[in-house]
Amino acid sequence: MSDKPVINFTRGVPATESFPVEAMKIASQTALDKYGTTILQYGKSYGFAPLREWLAEWQGVSVDQVLTANGSLQIVEFLCFHFIRPGDVVFTEVPTYDRTITMLRRHGAKIVGIPLQPDGPDIDALEAALKQQAPKFFYLIPDFQNPSGATCSLEKRQKLIELSSRHGFRLLEDAPYRPLRYRGKEQPSLFQLNPTMTLHMLSFSKLVGPGPRIGMLYGDAELLGQIAKIAEDTYITPSLLSQGIVYEFCNADNLPDQIASLKALYAPRLQACLDALDKHLPDAEATRPEGGFFLSLTLPEGVATSDVIKQAKRYNLNLADGEAFFPNGGGERFLRLPYCALTPEEIEDGVKRLAQTVADVRG
Ligand SMILES: Cc1ncc(COP(=O)(O)O)c(C=O)c1O
Repeated sequence: MSDKPVINFTRGVPATESFPVEAMKIASQTALDKYGTTILQYGKSYGFAPLREWLAEWQGVSVDQVLTANGSLQIVEFLCFHFIRPGDVVFTEVPTYDRTITMLRRHGAKIVGIPLQPDGPDIDALEAALKQQAPKFFYLIPDFQNPSGATCSLEKRQKLIELSSRHGFRLLEDAPYRPLRYRGKEQPSLFQLNPTMTLHMLSFSKLVGPGPRIGMLYGDAELLGQIAKIAEDTYITPSLLSQGIVYEFCNADNLPDQIASLKALYAPRLQACLDALDKHLPDAEATRPEGGFFLSLTLPEGVATSDVIKQAKRYNLNLADGEAFFPNGGGERFLRLPYCALTPEEIEDGVKRLAQTVADVRG
């Protein structure tokens, strides 16, 4: 067993040094001074009104098109309650976010996977699946996808919109990494391309911190009313105390600087990860993301991720199960590398340990 410090390439946690603690202290004081009795009370299940107004303006929509909840994963759950009955078909990209797979399964959804290519979902596979059945919704992460790091091209975004309108299914666009682009050109969101067919989710978890648990859903006002009722029946009201604090953080115009400092912190970490892979593990096939928290690897032929995970423990390297991102099997050689919470030195060291592990597994 190694006596080296543990390195975790496991989950997409933000770097603790990115948290804006000082600005949040001021925001907390201001929020309690200004709204103390409101944010310590129950309120509307849509969330704290000033935050919703701020979020509406941020994305250029009306307030009735915004609902906030205790984290965006909670919104996925509400949408499952609304849309899914056991046996209903849902499409996801493959691979996709493992916690969404768990949630869809919990609601009895039949998951049809659409293979993900470096520029977005395989449109031929999507059209073939649609010949069988239109889904209740297609869950996608078009920007800096979790777990692959891929970003959907404009062409494919337009095609997705066309198909969703033609076949009458919603696009559930999960976009927590969208504001974190380190290079390249931003593409319009699916929601910007078609706000009627798209439900757009954002989150403060990767921007300010997961602690406040604030996720937001943008979409059709009437549907949001139905989701607000599910939210009310679940927890009455989301955490207005956190929403008041994060609202004051945003209202003091801290978010642009915070996002700029996240990009300055994370962009070199992505580059360090790509450089280390080129140097130490050139025969693993790596994605080359332009932002977000993850890149992913296909390990060399004959090397199973499950064996690598076991062996890596000898080097104090923790890795995440690759197959968990594949709803219907596959992913035996898939590995996700979340690099944001590690320093460039830890990333270089971690990739070196990974390369050593792969060499050991190959024998
Ligand atoms: C694609 C995706 N959706 C949702 C979430 C959960 O976000 P939240 O903390 O807002 O619940 C994550 C967190 O890793 C994620 O990667």
